[in-house]
Amino acid sequence: MRTGSGQAGDPAAAGQQAGPTLSSPPATTPLVAWHGDLAGWLDRLGWLRTLSDWLTAVLGPVRERHQDNLVLELLHGGRWVGHPLHPALSDLPIGLWAGVMVLDATDRDPAPRRGIDAAGMLSAAGILAAGATALTGLNDWTVSNDQDRRVGLFHGLLNTAALGLQGASLGTRVAGHRGTARALGAASFAVTAAAGYLGGHLVFTKGVMVSRVAWAIEPRRWTRALQEADLPDDSPTAVVAEGRQIMLYRHRGSLYAIDNICSHAGGLLSRGPVADLTVTCPLHGSRFALADGCVSRGPASQPQPVLPTRIRNGWIEVRGSQPTPRRPTKGRTQP
Ligand code: FES
Repeated sequence: MRTGSGQAGDPAAAGQQAGPTLSSPPATTPLVAWHGDLAGWLDRLGWLRTLSDWLTAVLGPVRERHQDNLVLELLHGGRWVGHPLHPALSDLPIGLWAGVMVLDATDRDPAPRRGIDAAGMLSAAGILAAGATALTGLNDWTVSNDQDRRVGLFHGLLNTAALGLQGASLGTRVAGHRGTARALGAASFAVTAAAGYLGGHLVFTKGVMVSRVAWAIEPRRWTRALQEADLPDDSPTAVVAEGRQIMLYRHRGSLYAIDNICSHAGGLLSRGPVADLTVTCPLHGSRFALADGCVSRGPASQPQPVLPTRIRNGWIEVRGSQPTPRRPTKGRTQP
């Protein structure tokens, strides 16, 4: 992006001569801003919003009805795997179809062949893997939110198009039209790469299915959270201690403190119901034991951090992780 003519009298040029000022941030160029603009542009597509809303209306109630279904939880990855399955599975079709591209590029035999060759085998295996990957992706999509949901839908539509192109490529390959098969395979891989880019945006930029409490360590020392008299029994209560959001809960004299930000996608646990000392996230229904944070129902796959508590001078105090010692302690265990 041009920011000025660079000639005398041009305010931008004058600014350059005077040197950078603290009050004027550097101009953002399209080269570094396009990915954010792309997500915003996708989010504004009217037909994508309509389709997303329609799918949500159809799939939302189905998901709610089957929230306790272990197969659905396994498709997320769930507490047994410890992280989402979809990103790991997505490597399979990408890798297999990349193999097709390499074989096609290095195959010097011009004679048309009918039947399935090595590239065809990889293509077929990638199609099977893409089916499983799509299933896990659709399942994750049902527990996404807002803009992530729209971008995620576009990511899924691109992958569906890539799957269709790869299927057509395999069909023409088996029929012996190798030139057409190669062209369709290359088109499929290009669309897969675009879809993969959007998947990367969702994970690395938006943190979809990334633990929202991975960096939750505060407070480093015992910190007052709430006056003991202000905590009602059997009622989830949100407090903030040194910037960390915590849910307090007292039941029959026992006190529990758990990170209030749901590890799955940031729902506020204090707004969810508690039964049998287990809190249910109001956003997508993950359940966590108050005593140790263990997941008893997904889509969350990571335990929720719990904090030790104590009562001092009428105050409930909480503490997060302990600071790492500056040098290794010899002959002493960590407190
Ligand atoms: S935010 Fe999704 S289950 Fe809590």
